[in-house]
Amino acid sequence: MCGIVGYIGEKEALPILMDKLRMLTYRGYDSAGIAVSENGHFYVEKCKGKVEELEARLDLEKAHGHVGIGHTRWATHGPPSTRNAHPHLDCSGRIAVVQNGIVENFWELKQELIAKGHEFRSDTDTEVIAHLIEEYYDGNITTAVALAMQRMVGSMAVLVVHKDEEDRIVAAKMDSPPLIIGLGRGENHIASDIPALLHYTNKIYVLEDGEIATVTKDDVIITRYRESTTPQRLYDRRVIVVDWSPEVAQKGGYEHFMLKEMHEQPQTVTDTLLGRVPEDSRLPIEIPELNITPDDVRRVERLTFVACGTAYHAGVIAKYAFEQILRIPVNVDVGSEFRYRQPILGKNEWVIAISQSGETADTIASMREGKEQGARVLAITNVVGSSVARLADGVLYTRAGPEVAVASTKAFIGQIVGVYLLLLYMAQYRHLSPSAQQVVRELRQGLWRSARDIERVLETADKTRAIAERIAEKPVAFFIGRNMDEPLAREGALKLKEISYIHAQGYPAGELKHGTLALLESGVPVVALATQSSVYDKMVSNMQEVLARDAWCIGIVPEGDERVTQLLGEENVLTIPRSNDYLHVLPAAVQVQLIAYYAARALGRDIDQPRNLAKSVTVE
Ligand code: F6R
Repeated sequence: MCGIVGYIGEKEALPILMDKLRMLTYRGYDSAGIAVSENGHFYVEKCKGKVEELEARLDLEKAHGHVGIGHTRWATHGPPSTRNAHPHLDCSGRIAVVQNGIVENFWELKQELIAKGHEFRSDTDTEVIAHLIEEYYDGNITTAVALAMQRMVGSMAVLVVHKDEEDRIVAAKMDSPPLIIGLGRGENHIASDIPALLHYTNKIYVLEDGEIATVTKDDVIITRYRESTTPQRLYDRRVIVVDWSPEVAQKGGYEHFMLKEMHEQPQTVTDTLLGRVPEDSRLPIEIPELNITPDDVRRVERLTFVACGTAYHAGVIAKYAFEQILRIPVNVDVGSEFRYRQPILGKNEWVIAISQSGETADTIASMREGKEQGARVLAITNVVGSSVARLADGVLYTRAGPEVAVASTKAFIGQIVGVYLLLLYMAQYRHLSPSAQQVVRELRQGLWRSARDIERVLETADKTRAIAERIAEKPVAFFIGRNMDEPLAREGALKLKEISYIHAQGYPAGELKHGTLALLESGVPVVALATQSSVYDKMVSNMQEVLARDAWCIGIVPEGDERVTQLLGEENVLTIPRSNDYLHVLPAAVQVQLIAYYAARALGRDIDQPRNLAKSVTVE
């Protein structure tokens, strides 16, 4: 959703800006640009295309300066083009601006500025910001940015440099897009996301909505632009130390980030459990950061999970698990629907947001809706200090580490483990039937082993790859499943279409006969997940329906399965280690990820940065 970066310090700004932009390309990659300033002179370069294309255009002789800003874009207003690429300058060419977000009242402001004689050179909303600041500039760039922010409506993170005050960058944040300041020695950094800062510092400050920061090489001064407040220096209490290492944000010898991140999934499982689920099952599970007491757990009457995309599928898995094991009613909503459908939340209900980035606008808006209605709002997220984490009354971090590939894999596994952790924690204080108690015991012990189960799937990926390469030859694919395999079917289809561009649909297997079966004909691939013992027989019947239409049915089953293997033929069956229905979800998720990955690879797609997408969706 656009990545923005800034640097001020003793070093040359350009290489640092370019490095940070490369780390942020997953946020958008349809155009890129930088501005560096030295001795009252701006060097600005921008172009349509990825950061590599920008790099090829740079004139290293001219591009000097110790202060600069940069941008990698995911277009909202105006198509990807050089003229619409950031930074945008004011009329005088003294102010450079990069923005992530949307200025909703840009049209009105633009008309006002045009009437005052401003000439516009792009179709973007961002250019309005540069002209508005120019209008208010009276020798102090922080004041001018504050006044401009007061006039704007929307959701944005903005960085501004003025040629006449090149000892500072001004950063301002409205609503959801993230903006993080990285604190160095004799230098300071700014970026949309933590991975871009990891090469330089692990001390970060996350700007709050309504804050404006004046960042010099030795100092950061925070004020608020909506009300007059005393300027504050950053003091240690508000600074977070992140424990991600810079290496985790590198490819580390893998062909793609997605492949690397799939291979990090066993670690995600272990890290997310560590220190929370004692291996000695007599000891309690404690998750203090969730901020819920045993009494809260006893009182809660309904849970509503809100999330988008892949994270939503983790929410659907939660619905099955919580209702089946804890017998608590659960709703699941995609954020963009929940926020506008006037949901009804009663007393003793919790809204639980699931989000890798912690910055997804629709998820954040849903949390706000929950808060307004007085519900307790919790979050399962991967990013410490993210908007979702800060908004929630309690947080469960998933510890997947930075996820760089646009397609979510290890974060999804972390979310499922996070959901199970919450369930196990709550199970300690709810009245459960003896059979549910048994399931909880198995889940608690088995979760640790599932790291190994995932490893086994990754080690035996050759067969998955061969099948995926055949799927890559087809124009369409279906994924079907029942019970907890149903959200996995949707996830498999989402992943396949997202990175391979093959049209794919994920369905509850029982729904095929209500319409979709009409699309099945000779050779159409249908991936049928049959890892849920309670509906296994039903799945076998659905596979038969598929075969009867001469479609190509590929089964995903626990090891030792005989019926499906006989029905489909050994060559069309992928296996996962056998454990129990709840744990099967984890290695089965990895099988569908591998199908998508190898199909996309066979087609030569841009796997880590698929077309039209961006990783954190900070606009509606
Ligand atoms: C798909 C994918 C997206 C995200 C969705 C939510 O592979 O990555 O569907 O899951 O945009 O993002 P987060 O989890 O950051 O809220």
